[in-house]
Amino acid sequence: MTSADLELPLGIAVEAPTSELARIEVHVPLSIIVPTYRECENIPFVIERVARLRAREKIDVELIFMDDQSRDGSIEAVEACGYSWVRLVERSGKRGLSPAVIEGFAQARNPVLICMDCDLSHPPEVIPQMILALSSGQQFVLGSRYVPGGSTDDDWGFFRWLNSRVATLLARPLTKVADPMSGFFCMRRADFDKAENLNAIGYKIALELIVKCGFENVGEVPIQFKDRVYGESKLTLKEQLRYIKHLRRLYLHKFANAMYLMQFLTVGASGVLINLSVLTLLLASGFNEQVAIAGGIAVSVVTNFLLNRRFTFSYARHGNAFKQFIGYLTASAIGVTVNYTVSLAMLHAPLPETAQSIYVASLSGVAAGMVFNYLGNRYLVFRRRFIEQ
Ligand code: GDD
Ligand code: MN
Repeated sequence: MTSADLELPLGIAVEAPTSELARIEVHVPLSIIVPTYRECENIPFVIERVARLRAREKIDVELIFMDDQSRDGSIEAVEACGYSWVRLVERSGKRGLSPAVIEGFAQARNPVLICMDCDLSHPPEVIPQMILALSSGQQFVLGSRYVPGGSTDDDWGFFRWLNSRVATLLARPLTKVADPMSGFFCMRRADFDKAENLNAIGYKIALELIVKCGFENVGEVPIQFKDRVYGESKLTLKEQLRYIKHLRRLYLHKFANAMYLMQFLTVGASGVLINLSVLTLLLASGFNEQVAIAGGIAVSVVTNFLLNRRFTFSYARHGNAFKQFIGYLTASAIGVTVNYTVSLAMLHAPLPETAQSIYVASLSGVAAGMVFNYLGNRYLVFRRRFIEQ
């Protein structure tokens, strides 16, 4: 490959790779944000490796440790290095990895932001390659374990590996990247500033940024992920469960209507089961069929309402329940009317012989009624505009 200067969107000069071991000179100032909780043993190593990178590549770097009041000597470890470009921010707001990173990005001064763990799992030496990828058209670049050349440490147990793969698979509809779980990534400050309603729950801050910023061009640079030597992982089971909650929010963000509809239909299906169970129970208790049918309907209407209020349209769960219930019944009544009307219309519609059946007519009615019901609930009963969040 020949050496040539590339014109970069970041307005920086990059010397194109001259050999297999591409030596890349990137001169854009970087802000490296490192979330920390009880990492005092690792901090000096991280600082030293970044210092070496900084000197070798002649890049302007600020290194910020976002610490959640570890009180384990982390502050002293940062002070001891004596570099003016390294600082530690002792946080007092909402604790956690993601909020720490978001706060760090907001405080960063340079045009390119990098997030990296403090346990030396992420090699800072690949940062120049990540910047190069960013410069040559990517909006977001990950240090990735799952692209060719990337790896995890050999002693990763089967369960940790499986866990990571399942988590990645669940995020598949949100992004096609190989390693969206990575905690090592970079992006432009300008893009971060444009990000709206970032929600900092859990660990998956890269996934949050990719989805909420709507990034299409996400690059991945292979890394050899090393297991930590000092300190211990803070990724608890509780954090993992939070991931499910996080995923639900991201799905809602990306596929809002499809998600509401799916949840609405799931609640509807649960209503059918509840209806039949109550009916069976009432019959077994000696009630007559009319009472049993009415009981099944009554109970399932109430449970459908409660479940939709709590889950499908969970943003509305603090609204006035009574008013919502009346609205819900009205929407259901309209749904029933639509169902009936469409069923009758279909019954008399000039359809081909094969499609002419009372079941086809009835199912069409059910589908139309349900859509109406859904729209009524989504846009009238549980409408977002009028609900305080
Ligand atoms: N400020 C702050 N607050 N930092 C935290 C907190 C917190 O509550 N919890 C963890 N950290 C810091 C740690 O000190 C470390 O620097 C980094 O966040 C990652 O935490 P680890 O505890 O080492 O996490 P992990 O190795 O299990 O998970 C890492 O790898 C996963 C992929 O396997 C993270 O990078 C994850 O984001 C990633 O998904
Ligand atoms: Mn780690």
